[in-house]
Amino acid sequence: MHQRITELRRLLEYHNHKYYVENAPEIDDFEFDRLMRELQDLEAAHPEFDDPDSPSRRVGSDLTREFRSVEHIHPMLSLSNTYSREELGEFFDRVEREVGSVEYVAELKFDGTAISLIYENGRLLRAVTRGDGVRGDDVTANVRTIGSVPLRLRGDDYPQFFEIRGEVLMPFASFESLNAERAAADEQPFANPRNAAAGSLKQQNPAVTASRGLDCFLYFLVGDRLPHTTHYQSLEAVRRWGFKVSDLTTVCHTRDEVYAYIDRVDEMRHSLPFATDGVVIKVNDYGYQRDLGFTSKSPRWAVAYKFKAEQAATRLVSVDFQVGRTGAVTPVANLEPVQLAGTVVKRATLHNADQIAALDLRVGDTVYVEKGGEIIPKITRVEMSLRPADALPLEFVSVCPECGTALVRPEGEAKHFCPNTTACPPQIVGRIVHFVSRKAMNIESLGDETIALLHSAGLLTDVADLYSLPPAAVAALPRLGEKSAANILKSVEESTRVPFARVLYALGIRYVGETTAKSLAAHFGSVDALMAASAEELAQTEDVGERIATSIVEFFAKPDTRARIERLRAAGVQMEAESRVAESSSLAGRSFVISGTFEGWGRDQLKEMIENHGGRNLAAVSAKTDYLVAGDNMGPAKRAKAEKLGVEIIGVETLLEMMNAATATEIPSHPAEEPQSDEKTAVQGYLF
Ligand code: IVH
Repeated sequence: MHQRITELRRLLEYHNHKYYVENAPEIDDFEFDRLMRELQDLEAAHPEFDDPDSPSRRVGSDLTREFRSVEHIHPMLSLSNTYSREELGEFFDRVEREVGSVEYVAELKFDGTAISLIYENGRLLRAVTRGDGVRGDDVTANVRTIGSVPLRLRGDDYPQFFEIRGEVLMPFASFESLNAERAAADEQPFANPRNAAAGSLKQQNPAVTASRGLDCFLYFLVGDRLPHTTHYQSLEAVRRWGFKVSDLTTVCHTRDEVYAYIDRVDEMRHSLPFATDGVVIKVNDYGYQRDLGFTSKSPRWAVAYKFKAEQAATRLVSVDFQVGRTGAVTPVANLEPVQLAGTVVKRATLHNADQIAALDLRVGDTVYVEKGGEIIPKITRVEMSLRPADALPLEFVSVCPECGTALVRPEGEAKHFCPNTTACPPQIVGRIVHFVSRKAMNIESLGDETIALLHSAGLLTDVADLYSLPPAAVAALPRLGEKSAANILKSVEESTRVPFARVLYALGIRYVGETTAKSLAAHFGSVDALMAASAEELAQTEDVGERIATSIVEFFAKPDTRARIERLRAAGVQMEAESRVAESSSLAGRSFVISGTFEGWGRDQLKEMIENHGGRNLAAVSAKTDYLVAGDNMGPAKRAKAEKLGVEIIGVETLLEMMNAATATEIPSHPAEEPQSDEKTAVQGYLF
């Protein structure tokens, strides 16, 4: 066993080096992950062979395998933090002792994820995450989807080549709708907008990033030969070039002005549309910045004043246990209402039984609630000195509060579940609510209350019942009547035209959100193909990992799922992707192999486009292949094979040109012009 562990460690290190250092991977991510999982399993089973240098223990930065890792031109340092005015006073003392009295610029400290942007000749060349400060991930394709990041600069006074830093943020509004969507797909919600922003930048498919509603503020023009003498002048120039710079950025002439700025921001920050966790204070003049210099970790000319996470004390009144669509039981604390960070807090989520035990929570306890970067307040601790003598430990319910079934806690899960999926009312109603929701079957006339009403009247226990609702019985229900009943039946009937991808999402397969459903529909084309697929085949699909694959297999293995699908199919609900009408025949008779990754394009998306233009996709390079479409990180073996067989190797641009060739006679083409990469091109219309 030890031998295999050593072998796996050696193999994984070898492939890591190939990937990160040599940029010439020999195996794909799937194979790498498989080896890594094997190692992790063996290490877990044999702790005696532990090794802190094992490749499974490389942690501590946000580097991921999927993105090209690049070195920063200037290392991305952090800022020194203070939480008190006294410490801030020490910063001013030090600055003024070393360079005399100076102007400061006070700015918001944005609570997102840092980004470095490189521009050349006024065009966005590259966007890189902070990573470990020295190397980060090249996320250019994803950053290009953020509307507030200019792809072409305005004016003509920008340096020919420069770097600018800022923060990618997810505004609260985007964050809330994203989490609502994730909850609907039974995916783990993001804990806070910062994690959501970072997660959105690390998407394999830029279309997903694009859908996340990100924003980007810039706050640092980097370089030693900048055309200005102060930071503030740079920010004004940067704004003219088209970047987003916060209007709240202010020049302060004295310490008191800085303190007043902090007070002002502290008061108003809860009404800003995005998260902030403090104020950054920078010496304005570049000459003084140079004199002050850097430590190994941070500039000595700047400091972050961080706001403490706000806390409030209140009393725990009771705990409710809520049952969701999947049967997961979530404890929710009912609190005596208390004012916190601009809102009145009455409830706090307790996540699961372990958390209740860890807090040693009892009804009647005085508890501290906190809102850090999180939207939903959490209970951080109990004030033991105020515990009432008669307070009893909280018991987690053992039976479902809705249907009385004994709860189960599956191995490896933190949550308790009600296993009565077929008859537990909130599970049934929750599934139907999801099925009819706007992004699923979009059955507008059916609100949550009507669904509950139809359910309690015994007319609706499965989504398939929707398609055989008896009109008279529906009309006879309280508050409905004939007109409402007719509307309901009409929109149910209309929903049979909803495309297969949305039907798939509507089915409510655990972890299958909208995007995954689209990928699955494009890849498999029909519910029958999907039901027949093995977990391994499923995991080959874009956006589908092992966890999702297993969930899909389990879902379709259930007899009631199969019965539901057949009833829906009989009712005329779409169980196949629309037959692909050729959009042109420009690729007719030609066969393609797609390999590697493509900035701005998913592989499945390109394959679909090839078919739509009459071309054929092949899985592997052979004598029958006409073209190998080569992306980034394509294996060297594939290239060698193509060269040997005389298969033409082309890039994605050539592929797009070939597709558009058929229309060239009608639409004047400009072959000499380079593609206008910052403008939406016709082909981008393929992005869902
Ligand atoms: S300036 C060399 N300005 O805070 C220092 N950073 O702890 C460059 N941040 O990684 C950073 N708002 O992600 C700067 N107005 C602001 C900022 C800001 C947020 C973040 C940034 C950085 C971290 C430093």
